[in-house]
Amino acid sequence: MRNAAELSGMVEPDRVRKEVYTDQEIFEQEMARIHETVWIYVGHESQVPRAGDYYTAQIGRQPMLMVRGKDGKVHVLYNRCPHRGNMMVGDRHGNCGEFFRCSYHAWTFQHSGKLRSIPMIESGYTGTRVNKDSPELSMKPAPRVESYRGFVFASLAKDGPGLKEFLGKSIVAFDDMCDRAPEGEVEVVPNCFRVIQHSNWKLFMENQIDALHPSVTHQSTGRAAHEVEKKIAKQAKAGEALSYHMLSAFATVTIDKWDNFQTINYPYGHCILTGYMGLRPQDPDTKAYDKIMIKAYGKERFDEIVGVNIHHVLVYPGLSVQSPLQQLRAVRPLGVDRTLTEIWHFRLKGAPEAIYRRSLAYYNLVNSPATLINADDLENFWKCHQGLSSDGGDWVSFARHHGHDIEQDGAVSSAPNQGTSEAPMRNQMKAWAKYMQGRA
Ligand code: FES
Ligand SMILES: [Fe+2]
Repeated sequence: MRNAAELSGMVEPDRVRKEVYTDQEIFEQEMARIHETVWIYVGHESQVPRAGDYYTAQIGRQPMLMVRGKDGKVHVLYNRCPHRGNMMVGDRHGNCGEFFRCSYHAWTFQHSGKLRSIPMIESGYTGTRVNKDSPELSMKPAPRVESYRGFVFASLAKDGPGLKEFLGKSIVAFDDMCDRAPEGEVEVVPNCFRVIQHSNWKLFMENQIDALHPSVTHQSTGRAAHEVEKKIAKQAKAGEALSYHMLSAFATVTIDKWDNFQTINYPYGHCILTGYMGLRPQDPDTKAYDKIMIKAYGKERFDEIVGVNIHHVLVYPGLSVQSPLQQLRAVRPLGVDRTLTEIWHFRLKGAPEAIYRRSLAYYNLVNSPATLINADDLENFWKCHQGLSSDGGDWVSFARHHGHDIEQDGAVSSAPNQGTSEAPMRNQMKAWAKYMQGRA
């Protein structure tokens, strides 16, 4: 266990010690103090539409599951049988029927986790400490569960800020995504991609809002896509060029232009990257969608909804959301040098199929493990972790545009024309240090 003095020596406003990424003890401590304390995204309600449907998710080091009860309520429980500790479900998702039944000795449990039956309880347990109503004989629920617009979060700490207070301004990730649906709701597209990267989880979080890297790291991918895009445009197949544009933007938005974007950084480490990468064309599909939206919301509200200028929202410590394209990535640390990302996308309820195909294209072309973009990033993550594990240096620098950030009403923005500021990394580490010292 690192004490507060040790931890505070590791984080300076514009740099952090390498051990923050590589030390096993620090990893255990951040699982206990951050991931197993704050609100962590479990999944979307639409993953468990029917009673008995369950879906597993890791919160910090804890195997958890969410399950839909008969009354429609979504419960989040530890995936553990209270008898001898067997995981209640061994697969990722499924339907448990009327109740859970442990595969080891057939204890059964309600969807709420409450003990339902034990084989031959009278003859087996009379006179023992076990009686049917002892709470320790039920599956343990997450101390706090809350859902916002269908997105289910759990906190493994009894006390702390409520979900809305914790999310603060980053709540826009879910509002922006759902508001873009004519029915005001999204539904998950089963299933997700899962990638295990051989690097610390914080490298992923830092990269998500690193506006300096795209035109460097993804330049070759962007250039190749731009060549094809130009050819297609010449042949006047404008409809097909849009998906190439999702990739070519990584090269056409050159490094200097990324300074025009802006990051706004909030308490608890959350961050918004403004900008939309020019992905709002005026093709027939978009026009058909606009018409449905105007009918649903009226012109004024429609303009407000599609005018939200967000490219990316980071909900620290475990979520990266690209709301205008209905993309969500959940970060599940597995070890100090192993991180799982779940890569999801959503369907706007009531929107035409063509609009869904656009978010599917972005999912496949930019976020999936099949794309060069994701591979570009994964290579950097691994190389960073290797370098940080070496004796080649002691610090990681976050000094870009340090001292120029603008602080107002508790938010820290990158200064005008300084969108590539490392303000988001400084903000994340500030939150990290607070959590680790128990000051958050
Ligand atoms: S471990 Fe579950 S019933 Fe025995
Ligand atoms: Fe990237």
